[in-house]
Amino acid sequence: MFALTKKVAIVTGASSGIGRATAVLFAKQGAKVVVAARRQAELDALVAEIADQGCNATALAGDVRDEAYAKALVELATREYGGLDIAFNNAGSTGEMGPVSELSLEAFRDTLDINLTSGFLGAKYQVPAMIERGGGSLIFTSSFVGHTVGMPGMVAYAAAKAGLIGLTQVLAAQYGAQGVRVNALLPGGTDTPAATFKTPEEWAFVEGLHALKRVAKPEEIAQSALYLASDASSFTTGAALLADGGVSINRT
Ligand SMILES: NC(=O)c1ccc[n+]([C@@H]2O[C@H](COP(=O)([O-])OP(=O)(O)OC[C@H]3O[C@@H](n4cnc5c(N)ncnc54)[C@H](OP(=O)(O)O)[C@@H]3O)[C@@H](O)[C@H]2O)c1
Repeated sequence: MFALTKKVAIVTGASSGIGRATAVLFAKQGAKVVVAARRQAELDALVAEIADQGCNATALAGDVRDEAYAKALVELATREYGGLDIAFNNAGSTGEMGPVSELSLEAFRDTLDINLTSGFLGAKYQVPAMIERGGGSLIFTSSFVGHTVGMPGMVAYAAAKAGLIGLTQVLAAQYGAQGVRVNALLPGGTDTPAATFKTPEEWAFVEGLHALKRVAKPEEIAQSALYLASDASSFTTGAALLADGGVSINRT
């Protein structure tokens, strides 16, 4: 059920955190993985690690705000591995945070570009490639922020992550008949370089927000991405799947 044998996947944001852990897991499950992010050296190290495990990956560095990069990733998957079955559109960043009155239009737009427009650009090239294969699974990394929790200071990030859920629903409705499933994955606080909690006090505060009283390891979120990528979720589409340690429902 969770096997990805003979599947081809694109994972963005693969140089670090959730994306890196997911690329490793997808490859272990048998997928051939195209790994994407801006930092070439980190991608090269990841490709080498996956190859050491006897699995397959290839890297292309670029910026997910760039339409040509979205196209090139799908072309690489097709040229190198024969097509595309899975896309984990995961690259993202909290961007500039702060009171709305102090946020520049430029910073707001940039956060939308990194987190939301990147998803649109990915889908634009991934969906046709998947239809050509007779179906596939698209996954967007959204967040509980902007969906179940209003987190002060995160105006642009919340708007972008909520936007991904709208994108998910429309794509799921539009392409379901052609075998393409589309889901959003909503992690809770996760211990990655991007985490905004740094000091022991911030760490304790964020852990306490979660019903499980801890944050996730990237490998735990990767397991949820694998569920959505694999046939284990064959009847799941248009979903906003919380993998959030109960941060959405916790009130203590
Ligand atoms: N950590 C959390 O608590 C948490 C909670 C909910 C949702 N999320 C979401 O989970 C996703 C992964 O985040 P993470 O926590 O794993 O953070 P991370 O370790 O910082 O990883 C972010 C990844 O995105 C890539 N990236 C950022 N901007 C990019 C750009 N313009 N073009 C190409 N790649 C770009 C980074 O690679 P380069 O720097 O090499 O480009 C990196 O690989 C994000 O969408 C984030 O919003 C995280």
